[in-house]
Amino acid sequence: MSSPAFRVAVLISGTGTNLQALLDTVHGREVEIVGVVSSRPDAAGLQRAERAGVETAVFAIAGHPDRAARDRALGDWLAAREVDLVVLAGFMELLGPEFVRRFAGRIVNVHPSLLPAFPGVGAIERAVEHGVRVTGVTIHYVDEHLDNGPILFQEPLELSYPACIDEIEQRVHAVEHRLLPQAVRLIAAGRVRIDPGNPRVVLVDDVD
Ligand code: GRF
Repeated sequence: MSSPAFRVAVLISGTGTNLQALLDTVHGREVEIVGVVSSRPDAAGLQRAERAGVETAVFAIAGHPDRAARDRALGDWLAAREVDLVVLAGFMELLGPEFVRRFAGRIVNVHPSLLPAFPGVGAIERAVEHGVRVTGVTIHYVDEHLDNGPILFQEPLELSYPACIDEIEQRVHAVEHRLLPQAVRLIAAGRVRIDPGNPRVVLVDDVD
């Protein structure tokens, strides 16, 4: 008898190319994407989910008394679908501490810089403004602070100047679309754990 699928929800706010990468590579194989949630009703990524036959929902703060109430409703929706992992793939809003505690150790995020450099929005633009020679992509667990949790994967990208933001974005996306599915695959396989001796460090068994 096969074991029940590892159940993943993906949270988005925009285009959803990382969601598409997950739909194309791991969905229906190692994991089941059981829901896609957007913080905005007009997120193009919602159509990607619908095309793949994945249930969607919109949880905008505007529809709730405050963020905590939105987070509770979102958490209830995810819990009802017995989600094992929540993937933030371009989800442009903060999730409050209550939500993070409720799904502790079960939320990952993809960020377009080598954290802890350039947390928050506009990471690529700010890296270029700063004139960095190396930026990159980080996949990390989510804790109660912005773009701060323990790191699973990082991959560097060299920059040259004058820099073209569009071209850097494309290179960043190409890395993200490879690293994020790899992270989800390894987590689903139980090959990722926090170092018991150092909670900042993630131990990844990625030897095939
Ligand atoms: C990605 O670059 C991700 O790192 C950042 O938001 C972007 C989302 O892109 N958090 P997409 O919606 O997956 O195309």
